[in-house]
Parts: sequence; structure tokens; C-alpha cells
Amino acid sequence: MKEVKVVLYGIGAIGRRMASALLEKKWAKIVGAVDIDPNKVGRDLGDLIGKKPLGVIISDDPDAVLSEAKPHIVVHTTTSYLRDTYPQFVKILGHGVNVVSTCEELSYPYVTEEQRELAEKLDKLAREKGVTILGTGINPGFLMDTLVITLTGPCIRVDRIEVVRQMNAATRRVPFQRKIGAGLTVEEFKRKISSHEITGHVGLEQSIGMIADALGWRLDEVRVEPVEPVIAERPVESEAVKVPAGYCAGLRQRAMGVRGGEAVITLDFRAYIGAEEEYDAITIEGVPTIRERISPCVHGDYGTVGITINSIPKVIKAEPGLKTMKDLPIPSATPSRA
Ligand SMILES: NC(=O)c1ccc[n+]([C@@H]2O[C@H](COP(=O)([O-])OP(=O)(O)OC[C@H]3O[C@@H](n4cnc5c(N)ncnc54)[C@H](OP(=O)(O)O)[C@@H]3O)[C@@H](O)[C@H]2O)c1
Repeated sequence: MKEVKVVLYGIGAIGRRMASALLEKKWAKIVGAVDIDPNKVGRDLGDLIGKKPLGVIISDDPDAVLSEAKPHIVVHTTTSYLRDTYPQFVKILGHGVNVVSTCEELSYPYVTEEQRELAEKLDKLAREKGVTILGTGINPGFLMDTLVITLTGPCIRVDRIEVVRQMNAATRRVPFQRKIGAGLTVEEFKRKISSHEITGHVGLEQSIGMIADALGWRLDEVRVEPVEPVIAERPVESEAVKVPAGYCAGLRQRAMGVRGGEAVITLDFRAYIGAEEEYDAITIEGVPTIRERISPCVHGDYGTVGITINSIPKVIKAEPGLKTMKDLPIPSATPSRA
């Protein structure tokens, strides 16, 4: 594989893991890094991730980085909502550079009219510039959509799909534990969810949309149930968060794709500190019925880094435009240095 020059855009918990993992890939070279956090800007990326200096200085000026480094692709890991990330994508695509992003709403940006409009503009710009943009990650991006779609491959008929992902959030990065409200009182949780101070999981609607589209199903409605706190029955903790009994350990969220009054796709996401059983369970009712259970569940942070980095060669080879995971060849791992 030819050497791929990569710029990292967003050097948070996931961006730092991307950097470490890319250093293990013999086909990749990190040529630039962008972030707005004043504590990171001006620092060497290698120092920041606890490795030897890389000579890559984190900058808050994406235009300067992209024109100097001339990367083949940007690995983008800033925020979850397309409304916020859209101007960042316009800038990157404007430089004629491919993008792979963990922005959840980009994984299938056709859920609302607003997203669809932004997606169409991104698709047009990417085509004009001859580059590709993809949203991916472990979820959305793989476990509750791409993998499900792949598992329907042998089905003559599909009647109904149910996916449950349950994880112990103590094993996940700290920003994730915060965004699911671990350690808050139930009142704080409800207030922060309704004020959008914490987001909960983002992406169930995107996953449902992608599955329905792949199967050619026209849904009457995508119904997202309110996010529910999971209340700790006993004290539980992670390295970063202590959860007394009666406090919020995390959350549960369900969403349904409804057709003819029936929930034909149900996604059930549960992430909380202290979950004893961890699994990803997929049931496809049809001919034949297929049941898949991954236990323990796939680790979300490693999984996000893996699927994002492994998508790089496929994004570079893809036709120009905005793509989703169902448009690319089947996901596969890429060679490492060792
Ligand atoms: N699809 C999936 O499966 C999946 C999996 C994991 C993560 N994600 C998503 O990926 C994103 C990154 O996750 P994370 O845990 O790494 O978050 P994080 O720790 O908050 O890191 C985000 C970094 O991006 C920086 N940033 C924010 N806006 C920026 C901008 N306009 N320009 C440059 N840098 C900017 C942030 O700086 P400040 O701290 O100063 O804001 C922060 O350093 C999140 O939206 C997360 O939900 C998706």
C-alpha cells in the first residue's frame, strides 16, 4: 500500500487514540494535527500522546495545516452534530482532501431535512473536488448498522430486526462516561439531557435509516424513545467516576423503525457503569432467521479507532462524493507495522 499522509482534526480522547494507532500502521504518516483547545495548541502531538516527539505541532489553523501538509485524508474527530461539523468539512473538502469522520450524524445524514440539505451540499462539493467524505465509527458506523446489514446478506426474506448493545461504561473513555451522565443525580441527569448539556448516545436514528435504506424498506416513522437513566442499585465506580447507590450509572435508549404500525427495526442501547453482562446481540427474523451474539461486546473506543483507520484506504479509493458505510466495500483490518 502506498504511504498515506494523514492530518488529525480533533485531538480529544478518540483523536489521541487515532494518533497512537496510526503510528502502528506502516502505510500511514501523520503530517498534521488540528484542535482548538488552548491546552493542546502549540504542543507536539507525540508529547501529547506520551510518545517521542513527532515534529507535528498541533495548530488551531486548519487552512495553514492543510495547505502546508497536503494530506491525502483528514481523520476528523471533533463533535457529533452535522450542524456544527459542517463548516469544518467544507474547509477540508475545499482543500481537495478526503475525510473520514466519527461525527455521528455524518454516518447517515438523511434523517432530517436540515441534515439532508447539508449532506447534499457536502456531496456536491466533494464531487467537484474529486474527493470522498465518510462518517463511521463503532456505533453508529458498524455494530448497529453495517454489521446488521451484512448479516442480512444470506436472508431470502427479512421480517424484523432487533439489536441490543449493552456495555459497562467503566471501560470506556472519560468523555463517553460524562456524555451518558454517569455519577449524576437522577434530577441532574434529566436536566442536563433536556438542556442538551449531555447528549446521551447519538446515532440510533442514523443506524435505523441506513438499515432501512440498504434493505429497500420505506419506514412510516423512526420513533426515538426518551433517554432513560440507569440507576445504580449499589455503589459502582470507574477510574474517573464514583456512582453512589441511587445515582445515575449511565443510560438506556431505544429507537424503532416503524412500518405499517409495527416496529420492524428495534435498536436498544444500554451503557452504564457496573453492567455485569456486556454483549452485542443481533436478531434478524426472516428466512432464515439469524442470531448473532458477540460477548463481551466490542470495545467501543478501540472499535471506533479500528473501523475509522481501516476505512482510510477504502475512502481514498472510493468514487468522489459523500458515502455511507453501506456504499463502501466490506470493512476489513489493514496491515500493521509488526
Ligand atoms: N461514531 C462512533 O462510533 C463514535 C465513537 C466515538 C466517538 N465518537 C464521536 O467522536 C467525537 C470525538 O470524541 P472524543 O471522545 O474524542 O471527544 P473529545 O474528547 O471531546 O475530543 C474532541 C476534540 O475536538 C476539539 N474540537 C472541538 N471542536 C473543534 C473544532 N471546531 N476544531 C478543532 N477541534 C475541535 C475539542 O476541543 P475542546 O475540548 O476545546 O472542545 C477536543 O479536543 C465525538 O463527537 C464523539 O461523540 C463517535
